[in-house]
Amino acid sequence: MLSQLKHVCKFRFVSQRLPNISSKLLKVNYAATAQSTNKLTVQSIQKADISRMLHVTWNNDTANRYPFVYLRDNCQCSECFHESSLQRSFDTVGHLKMKMDIQPERVDVQPRSRLAEEERAWNEVVDVLQNGEEISVTWPDKHVSVFNSEWLHSRRLTEEQDISKGTSTLNREGVIFWNAEQLQGKIPRHDFRVSDHFEVKAKFGANNLAYTSGDLPLHTDAPYYDYVPGLTFLHCIEQVSSEGGANQFVDGFHAAQQLKENDPNTFNLLSTTRFAFVDFGKDAFGEFNKKFPRLTIELGENDQVIRFSFNNHVRDSVMLVSPEKSIQLYEAYLAIGRMLRDPANQIEHKMIPGDMVTFNNSRVLHGRSAFKITQASNRYLQGYFLDWDAVYSRMRVLAKQFNIPFGL
Ligand SMILES: [Fe+2]
Ligand SMILES: [Zn+2]
Repeated sequence: MLSQLKHVCKFRFVSQRLPNISSKLLKVNYAATAQSTNKLTVQSIQKADISRMLHVTWNNDTANRYPFVYLRDNCQCSECFHESSLQRSFDTVGHLKMKMDIQPERVDVQPRSRLAEEERAWNEVVDVLQNGEEISVTWPDKHVSVFNSEWLHSRRLTEEQDISKGTSTLNREGVIFWNAEQLQGKIPRHDFRVSDHFEVKAKFGANNLAYTSGDLPLHTDAPYYDYVPGLTFLHCIEQVSSEGGANQFVDGFHAAQQLKENDPNTFNLLSTTRFAFVDFGKDAFGEFNKKFPRLTIELGENDQVIRFSFNNHVRDSVMLVSPEKSIQLYEAYLAIGRMLRDPANQIEHKMIPGDMVTFNNSRVLHGRSAFKITQASNRYLQGYFLDWDAVYSRMRVLAKQFNIPFGL
């Protein structure tokens, strides 16, 4: 198969050495090597420096553009994308906060088989492999991201995508009647409200990054639900004696207010454009696939902030915007990310056994520093979600009982 690649052109791109790079397009054509198959493959790639994007033409003669920042953010290697939880472990804000202009230093395309392993390290920056079935991008720090063509094509950045749920019968008609026979096996069996608590403990084959011992960047819980948990409770049962394992908390409403004052355009973008969040995989109840598009900053009446949603590890690699808009969104995302990580905006607390913390999951972000477990020392929290409806109900009952004024 690789012998069919003999017509491949070879280009090398060194950005700092080329004048007028903004007008320079680099292209390799794979038309001559395309196989007669229905499989979607890459026909050609171009790099347009001015647009900070990789242009990909597919073997069906359609084309799409992918910002380099998008490609770096969505690397699928085991270092950047956690294999068992199927969540992004790449710390986007930490790595890219000052690198919106990230791009490969060089573009070099040729058949992988013709290169000795040691040559490849510096020689391939963008490489179309296996007759266009994969694109490999090597970043300035030598990190390599390999993208399967069909995976990448299914994530093409276009505003035409519609992930609304309006196509289901229930959404169209509003009501569905099932008889007993049709009902068999159709009742959803799994939701976070079914279980009474969740256990935050490092475990092998974790289905969530919370259940590893690595850094857990600031986030709000479960934004992939339409009906997100109102309050999170974390109860410390066991804590590591070594360093790490502390929790960080940041007030998202305060960060939003700072953003509104200092950078109103970014505030407007984050309060009008959604990121989709996903959680998929398998657990004891079977396969699950949750998805919901949310605004980072959700405004209510009188434009006050009513919800803040931020969660890098479950932010979807599918973006519902054009390539240009995705670049604006990444700029905005990194701007609010920098603000959230400003030490002046954070409090840190390492819980000891017996401590419990609760917070408004629509307002306060929480994170955790990495820790080391030993045979003698582990970290074990029990978590619980409550809905505000239950909390307010209880507060009204108590307010009445103790004759305390309470609002609506
Ligand atoms: Fe969490
Ligand atoms: Zn990676």
